[in-house]
Parts: sequence; C-alpha cells; structure tokens
Amino acid sequence: MSNGQRSRDRLWEMLLTAATIWSVIEVPWQLEFGVSQRISTKVVQCLLTALFAIDLLLRWRHLWSSRRVTTTNARREDCPESLWWLLSDVPAAIPFALLPGPIGLVALRMSRLARLIQTLKLWRQRDIHNAGLLRLIFFVFWMLMISHWVACGWAALRDRLPGDKDGMHYLRALYWTITTLATVGYGDITPANGTQMLYAIMAMLFGVGLYGYGIGNVAHMLANIDQAQAHYHASLDRLSNFLRYRKIPMELQQQIFDYYSILWERNLGYDEAVILRELPEVLRVEIAVAMKREFIEKVPFFQGASPQLLREIAVELHPILFRPGDDVFRKGEIGRHIYFISKGTVEVIAGDGKTVLATLTEGSFFGEMALLHKRPRSATVRAVEFCDLYALDKATFENIIACFPDFAAHIKNEAERRAAH
Ligand code: CMP
Repeated sequence: MSNGQRSRDRLWEMLLTAATIWSVIEVPWQLEFGVSQRISTKVVQCLLTALFAIDLLLRWRHLWSSRRVTTTNARREDCPESLWWLLSDVPAAIPFALLPGPIGLVALRMSRLARLIQTLKLWRQRDIHNAGLLRLIFFVFWMLMISHWVACGWAALRDRLPGDKDGMHYLRALYWTITTLATVGYGDITPANGTQMLYAIMAMLFGVGLYGYGIGNVAHMLANIDQAQAHYHASLDRLSNFLRYRKIPMELQQQIFDYYSILWERNLGYDEAVILRELPEVLRVEIAVAMKREFIEKVPFFQGASPQLLREIAVELHPILFRPGDDVFRKGEIGRHIYFISKGTVEVIAGDGKTVLATLTEGSFFGEMALLHKRPRSATVRAVEFCDLYALDKATFENIIACFPDFAAHIKNEAERRAAH
C-alpha cells in the first residue's frame, strides 16, 4: 500500500471515528430529549448516515475482493469474522433521519460503538511510542462517555425542576453522575422513588469498580509500560547513534525505526532470541516450547510430530518480522533458512517479478527447495501484510532432516509437489 493511500485511509478512519463519537454522545441525548427538528440537525444526521453507508460499501468491497484471493491454506474463519463486523455496522447506516418520528431507531446508531471500541484498541496498538499516555487518554475518554450515558439515564428518570431547560436538567444529572461515580456523593441530589434508587445503586456499584480500576490498574499499567519503554528507548538511542555514525540514508533509517515500532507493538521491543540465550539450557527448551506452542499448533504437519522433534525445532526457530511489501528473499539468492508462517500472508513470485505462483498463509512453510536441492532460491517471496515468521537455519534444518525421516519425507513431498506446478 502506498504512503498516499495509507494517509487517505487514516483520514477516513479518523473521520469515521469522529462521526461515531458524535453519534454515541448524541444518541442518548436524543433518546432523552427527543430528536431535534432543526434543519442543521437533520443535515448532520443525513451526513452521518451517508458516511456510515459509504464505509459499509467500501468494506463490503474490500471483504469481497479479499475473499476472492486464492490461498493454498487460507483460514476460512477469517471471513466470517469480517462479515460479522460488517453486519454489526449495518444498523448504523439506516437513514432514520428521513423516516417520520422513529425515536427507537435512533438507538440503532449505537451499534457503531463496537466498531469504536475496536478502532481505539487498534490506535493504541499502533501508536506504540505513547502507549501509556494513550491508555490514560482512552480511560478518561471512556469515563466521560459512560458518565454522559449514565447522566442521560438519570435525566430520563428525574422530574425537571421548575424553570429548568434541557441544558440545566442535563447538567444537574451530569453533576449527580460524576459525584456518584467518583464516590464523592454529596447527597444534595437523592433518589425520589424505587426506580431511581435502583439506578443509583447500580451507578454506585459501577462507580466503585471504576474508581478501583482507575487507581489500581492504571497505576500498575503505567509502571509496567515505563519499564519496558525505558528499555526500548535505550535500545533505540543506541541504534540511532550507530545509524547516524555510519551515515545510513534517512529513508533506510526510517524503515529500521518502523521495524522497531512494530517489534515494540508485538512484544514490547524485547528480542525473544536474546532473552532465551541468557537462560540455562533446560529452561530455554521449556520456555521455547511454551512460547511457540500456539504457533506449533497452527502447522498441520507438526500435529503428528514427535515431542522430541517439536522440542528440537522450538529451540531453533527464530522469530522474524516482515512488513507489507518486504521481500523475505529474492529469486537467485543463496538459501540459508527455511521459514514457517506464524501470522500473515506471503506471495511466491516467479522470475518475471509479476506472476504469483502461490499465496501462503499461517501454518505454511517455504524456502525448503533451495536447502534440499542446494540450489539458489527458485522464486521471490514477498510479505503481503505484517508477517511473523519463524526461521530455521540451514545447518539445523539438515540435522533435523537427517534425524527425523518423517519430517524429511513431508518436506520433500511438498517440495516435489511445488516444483511440479
Ligand atoms: P526456494 O526455492 O528455496 O525459494 C522459493 C520458495 O518458494 C521455494 O523454495 C518454495 O518454498 C516456494 N515455492 C516455489 N514454488 C512454489 C509453488 N508453486 N507453490 C508454493 N510454494 C512455492
């Protein structure tokens, strides 16, 4: 994906997020105070509907084209998940502003909430430099959002004081909500009947939970993040000095920093191999197996493999990350590793640089031919999306092939099948 396309996608995502935030603030208000008949409100409603409908169409098109990509080992469950997300957004795209008096339908727009939660989570994962700060910001954001919803509910249950307009009535409700959720509870506004008492009890219980979470969890989160972040920044500073000293071109430097950003996002910048190397042999094997269990379970061949083989392989598999568009290797290069895909998709590209021979996904392996036949790479392999791969070096591969005939037979069969294509 080009940079221009990426920033257009980001902009669109921000626009949708802003529209969603507006909706989830406005909807509870409208449920309490009614849909405003002002022309400006109608226009905003129509714009939001159009925006959500366009988003739905775009994502439908994207889902449709991604389903048509032929993959040799495609996971079928990928599609239902996207389809589910897509369907959950359909209610938000209903043009209720054009229908006469459908106040209940307004609530359908809250279905965007699921998408908002997902988007904010994604942002937090992506903006790794400010992960701690973002967590705090999102915590405050959700607190305000929940306060707004609780306040709208309280406003709906309470009778208005004489002379109070919508704004004042809401402000009183918000004041009660904040004092209750923050466990301050001045007691100047008290429930007047059973329903209000039940509502107040729920708000108080929720407030205690929120308060506990806020104080305990956020402080703990920050302490942990800071530790990892300090380690990460120290490594980055060292690397940055080195790159400047060796006068590496800026573009390449940026690529290296991007790589580290993703590494940070995935495992807080810790290099698994370095950490494992510091452990005693017995522990190293156990931890390697535990860390790679999830991946090993994804590789069909490993299901029937002996525990001994799995232990051998787990210790020697080294994680490598590739970004979309990166070449894992190019045709004609000397083969030094065989690769297993833990996450992501790669394309095997023929010598003309265009023909896609195969698309390989989670659980597949590649790069075996060059090692088996002691020939240069027969094709280029390129990452289509972010790919977590595990590499096994040539010497270990040859040892394992020699010691485990089943493994050798499987790899050789697959190599022959591929060569015949
Ligand atoms: P190697 O020749 O080492 O490097 C390119 C790799 O692409 C090759 O090993 C195989 O693992 C893989 N490959 C080549 N052709 C195909 C194919 N038709 N289908 C799937 N994988 C292939």
